[in-house]
Amino acid sequence: MRVPVNNYNPDFNITRASHAVWSVKDLDASEAFYTQVLGFVVTAREADTLYLRGLEETCHHSLALVKRDGAPTCDRIGLRVYTEDDLDKARAYFLKAGLPNAFVEVPHQGRTLQASDPLGTALEFCATMPAVERKLTQFHTYLGGCAQRFDHYQVLLPDLEAAGEFYTDIGFRLSEYMVDATEKLMALFVQRKGNPHDIAIMYGRGPRIHHVAYTTVDVHTLIRACDVAGSLGYGRSVERGPQRHGPGHALFVYFRDPDGHRVELFNTHYLTLDIENAPARWDPSNIHRNLPWGLPAQRSWYEEATAFTGVDLRDTPVKPNPMTLERYLFERS
Ligand SMILES: [Fe+2]
Repeated sequence: MRVPVNNYNPDFNITRASHAVWSVKDLDASEAFYTQVLGFVVTAREADTLYLRGLEETCHHSLALVKRDGAPTCDRIGLRVYTEDDLDKARAYFLKAGLPNAFVEVPHQGRTLQASDPLGTALEFCATMPAVERKLTQFHTYLGGCAQRFDHYQVLLPDLEAAGEFYTDIGFRLSEYMVDATEKLMALFVQRKGNPHDIAIMYGRGPRIHHVAYTTVDVHTLIRACDVAGSLGYGRSVERGPQRHGPGHALFVYFRDPDGHRVELFNTHYLTLDIENAPARWDPSNIHRNLPWGLPAQRSWYEEATAFTGVDLRDTPVKPNPMTLERYLFERS
């Protein structure tokens, strides 16, 4: 087992995880769910794409929903870099690493570099988007879960050593990690923006995206989001929570959108930014720390995730999958 080592002088400067592109079957159904239950703002709706953002966000979009038939998939996960120069440096990095990459035109984004990590995760990097109005203080427009801003995403990947090496090499810093009794890496939490994670990487069949996560106002708003979901007939979309995480410590609720994509609303992350902040090591068998309130998730939360469009899945070489480990341990306790 190799614990990833931070690289404080990466080849290019990533600032944060910033957006996702998902396919959906029915834009009307998606717009109703995301605006009324989760409280997103619609920036634009064009022929086949709905562009959404959180109330706090001034970027054009942090979630783009593309109408498409077939199994719902994730087209891309977006990362922001600081300057245009960083995009060119990123291009040079991916070329040198022998990883797929190409500059492409993407509506409502600046120059965009699409690339893959070594496990096939579909990424895209941009430095700018058109700026739009920040709705943060327009409290009369707040609905449902009052989604504020894109904070992080979670992926399932079948090789955490390779993932850790790649993501720390491009500048992500390890904040927390999980190691099992056999000294196998089971989870990595890495960040660029100074809170516990921009990317949560779990050991599992992949690459798949487990969820995107948005901050909300406070714990009362988490409850309100559940109530609004229930009163509008979306009660079954509330998949897990309200509850508190072990790693990251956040209070959270997970929702499933009409196509099954998972969105987390949460608050209460902590600051981890200074160079002396050592990564926290977790033991996945310690259910009292991992599940502080003692409540396991539904089976679907452990087992279901969204595949990337056109990307083949790889099984984990070692069982059990960590996303099921917590459940098995809970049932045995
Ligand atoms: Fe999360």
